[in-house]
Amino acid sequence: MGATVIIGGQWGDEGKAKVVDFLMGDHDVVVRFQGGANAGHTVVSELGKFAFHQIPSGLLYPRVTGILGNGMVIDPFAFLQEFKDLSARGVDMAERLFVSSAAHVVTPVHKLMDNVLETDRKGASIGSTGKGIGPAYADKHMRGGIRMGVFLREKDELFEIIERSIEWNNRIFAAYNAPTLSAETIASDFVGIKDAMEPFIVDTQEMVHRLSADGRRILLEGAQGTLLDIDHGTYPFVTSSSCSVGGAVSGTGLWPRGIRRIIGIFKSYITRVGNGPMPTEIGGRDGDALRERGGEYGTTTGRPRRCGWFDMVAGRYSVLLNGYDEIALTKLDVLSGFSTVKICTGYRSGGGEIASFPQNTDALARCEPIYEEMPGWEERISHARSVEELPVAARRFVERLEKGLGVPITFVSTGPAREETILRSDTFSTVRK
Ligand code: GDP
Ligand code: IMO
Ligand code: MG
Repeated sequence: MGATVIIGGQWGDEGKAKVVDFLMGDHDVVVRFQGGANAGHTVVSELGKFAFHQIPSGLLYPRVTGILGNGMVIDPFAFLQEFKDLSARGVDMAERLFVSSAAHVVTPVHKLMDNVLETDRKGASIGSTGKGIGPAYADKHMRGGIRMGVFLREKDELFEIIERSIEWNNRIFAAYNAPTLSAETIASDFVGIKDAMEPFIVDTQEMVHRLSADGRRILLEGAQGTLLDIDHGTYPFVTSSSCSVGGAVSGTGLWPRGIRRIIGIFKSYITRVGNGPMPTEIGGRDGDALRERGGEYGTTTGRPRRCGWFDMVAGRYSVLLNGYDEIALTKLDVLSGFSTVKICTGYRSGGGEIASFPQNTDALARCEPIYEEMPGWEERISHARSVEELPVAARRFVERLEKGLGVPITFVSTGPAREETILRSDTFSTVRK
């Protein structure tokens, strides 16, 4: 049985967690494969509203096993807090949540470094979430990082490893004239959580292969989105991990041919938090309307998200990079009430037209959108459970996106709750287990 992969098709916050939660009805295992506490994944279920950050969404189903894969960078203190908060709300994850010994550790130094670097960038800051993601991946790639397996070491060894790493980073802080941190205090804090962390740590590469061989149905939950990918995104305004489909392989140890189904999640418009070019960004009344109706405020940082019309040029680039089998389109309900809805079908730049997404971020910043306008619809649509119940204009909009992207849109979301969903094909099981 091959794995299903969920990938953010745009700049993140597409509604990935809603789709993950929906799909868990017919999966047994959910694995995060990249990123860390920069993610904010919201699930609305009969138990209430949950925001997942490092723990995979999908664990609201008691029979599901959750794994934080080797491709992640993990803040262990935030992990324990998230575990505690979920447990307090009745989500019992005892003996069904595992953390890769090969995932990298985010220390307080990485978070401080994130802020030091952002300040140093002055007008060109990235708009990082400040969770230490970039510095932790930098240490990993510099081969100076610490892996989660450190919690399996004796306490005195753990102390020494953390102390050394903080001191190493302190030398860099000194170069930036930034305050240094107490290596001893941080090392003691890590020793203090060793007993709590140890039971979670396993070799997850081995584990995912075993679960797969046993016929357990695996879902790989992407965080962020393709346009934030370290290689393929709008560099340098990106995150530091592989959020497109390649990351699902390197971040778990599964085989490329072990992936059976790749689902891209797209919003019916587009949003971005943080800085960097965004050709279809709209200000004024329409931009505000999208933000307010869509509740477009960051799940992790509370920052207002920049909003714009659906960008088909960026969408086709996302399709090209990920080879989606299917697309889940979310937040169609947010477009109710617009007399016209727009889709960007090309860019205008330097007096000419371009149809493909520029690799060069400065070139992207110079692009103006070319829009196709379609009639909008007034009606609210969250009650619709079939395509036939949608206003004709909404149906045409979905069909236009499907044609432009060249991938079947099999799932249409019309509200945050599980049931606010229209299935356009039988690839999604409606049987909830
Ligand atoms: P993720 O990071 O991709 O998982 O997305 P977020 O959780 O950061 O942001 C998506 C937000 O939209 C959350 O508040 C969801 O509850 C909400 N949401 C998801 N699907 C829909 C939908 O179809 N309609 C509306 N109105 N809200 C949705
Ligand atoms: P989910 O998984 C949207 C953005 C930040 C910033 C850039 C780099 O909820 O879709 P980082 O903290 O990684 O150094 O920030 O990436 N960013 C996200 N934007 N959704 C996310 O996650 C994001 N995670 C990071 O705003 O622009
Ligand atoms: Mg989010």
